[in-house]
Amino acid sequence: MRLISFSCITLASLMLLRCQHIAAVPEQKSDSALTVVENVEGEVGAVGDEGEEEVANLKVVQPTEQWQTLKPGEAVPAGSHVRLNLQTGQREVRLGEEQLKHWTQDHRNGGHVPSSFAPDELKQAMKKIKEDLNPDSVASKYRSLEELKKDMAQLDLLVETDVQIMRRLLDQFNSSSTTTEQRLNILLELEYLVHQVDNAQTLCSMGGLQLIVEGLNSSDFRLQEKSAFVLGSASASNPVVQVKAVESGALQKLLTALATAQPLIVKKKVLFALAALLRHFPYAQHNFLSNGGLQVLSELFRADGGGVLRTRIVTMLYDMISEKVLISQAGLDPVLDAAHEERVHQYSKVSVEAELLENGWCRLVPLLLESTEHDHREKALRALLAMAPKCLDEYRSDSSLLGYLLSLRDQYQELVHSEMILGDETGYFAEIVELIDTLLVKMK
Ligand SMILES: *[C@@H]1O[C@H](CO)[C@@H](O)[C@H](O)[C@H]1NC(C)=O
Ligand SMILES: *[C@@H]1O[C@H](CO)[C@@H](O)[C@H](O)[C@H]1NC(C)=O
Repeated sequence: MRLISFSCITLASLMLLRCQHIAAVPEQKSDSALTVVENVEGEVGAVGDEGEEEVANLKVVQPTEQWQTLKPGEAVPAGSHVRLNLQTGQREVRLGEEQLKHWTQDHRNGGHVPSSFAPDELKQAMKKIKEDLNPDSVASKYRSLEELKKDMAQLDLLVETDVQIMRRLLDQFNSSSTTTEQRLNILLELEYLVHQVDNAQTLCSMGGLQLIVEGLNSSDFRLQEKSAFVLGSASASNPVVQVKAVESGALQKLLTALATAQPLIVKKKVLFALAALLRHFPYAQHNFLSNGGLQVLSELFRADGGGVLRTRIVTMLYDMISEKVLISQAGLDPVLDAAHEERVHQYSKVSVEAELLENGWCRLVPLLLESTEHDHREKALRALLAMAPKCLDEYRSDSSLLGYLLSLRDQYQELVHSEMILGDETGYFAEIVELIDTLLVKMK
């Protein structure tokens, strides 16, 4: 009986073991990894050329101090002692020398057999060996880098990026052969794209903003309206675009459009763009005021019977006043940075309040209370409160305002009552009553 005992093997050395110890045994097929037993049919075991499934299904045998026979497809942890029993033609395994030492110690202490690798780790390692040992199969599974690059390039050609789309749209828009209908569609597509902050800024760097601003005084009111729409959406919460737009002369164009445009839909969109441009941007607000912006708005307010424009205008006023108040209140915070001081400085140049009296706003805003919409009345009340420091005297001398506020208060208190009966917890009407009360207290 000849026993060949293999040296202890580790996983690391396993990777190099293509020229195997087993080659010393002539009748033994030697092209499989050492730790895996060959099938009876002589087929290569788990670490052979078969699919990954086999690795996954590999059964890992935990060796002990006794020799035990390995069945086909079974694997053993690193450091195990494997031998070939030439009599039976089968492989046997037991703990390696190092493992045995630990094992004996642990068993004396009643512990468990330590295993240098968990079964899962072993499977992973074997899978990797298998891939490493099979450069051909790897190559067939994965395409070369060059091929991949080619595929990516093709994909790029098929999928237009937003930047490419905007470039194409702007070129079309700028072409003299493009019809007005096409331009309108292009503006709608751009409006959709510029909601993304990056896209809006890219539009500016492509020179697109200039085209949009020029569209604001187009002779076709539909182009005016859509241009204002794009400008408003691009400027909304996008300081970079706000700055570029003011630099492109957008403010003057918007004011001119407000003063001259006829259809209501154009004025609505122009107001939308104006509000987006002025929001949190004291420099633009200052320019707006010095260009007679409040005068233009007051004329628009007087001319608007329906209340849609009035509400938007009053909201803009309210925003400008309250922004400045909020900034100065933030000034109470002891931790001030340079940017904040600059902002306070910029807002100090914006004197909306000073112009309120001049343009008759103290008398105009109460007119919005006559609207039948709760929302419009709420906006009016908030603006009246924000304007109160400048307008109180005017409010008091307004012969109809006090009476109007009292009757509104009655109406809303009844609504609060029915709100409670219906179990509506929103408290919207109660909020309006509170606004009225606050204003009434100030006017006393
Ligand atoms: C529009 O066309 C003019 C002249 O053809 C060109 O100078 C300008 O850069 C173009 N603008 C854009 C945004 O493509
Ligand atoms: C728009 O205004 C610019 C200058 O501000 C002017 O050159 C252009 O002719 C105006 N376009 C229309 C259609 O009025």
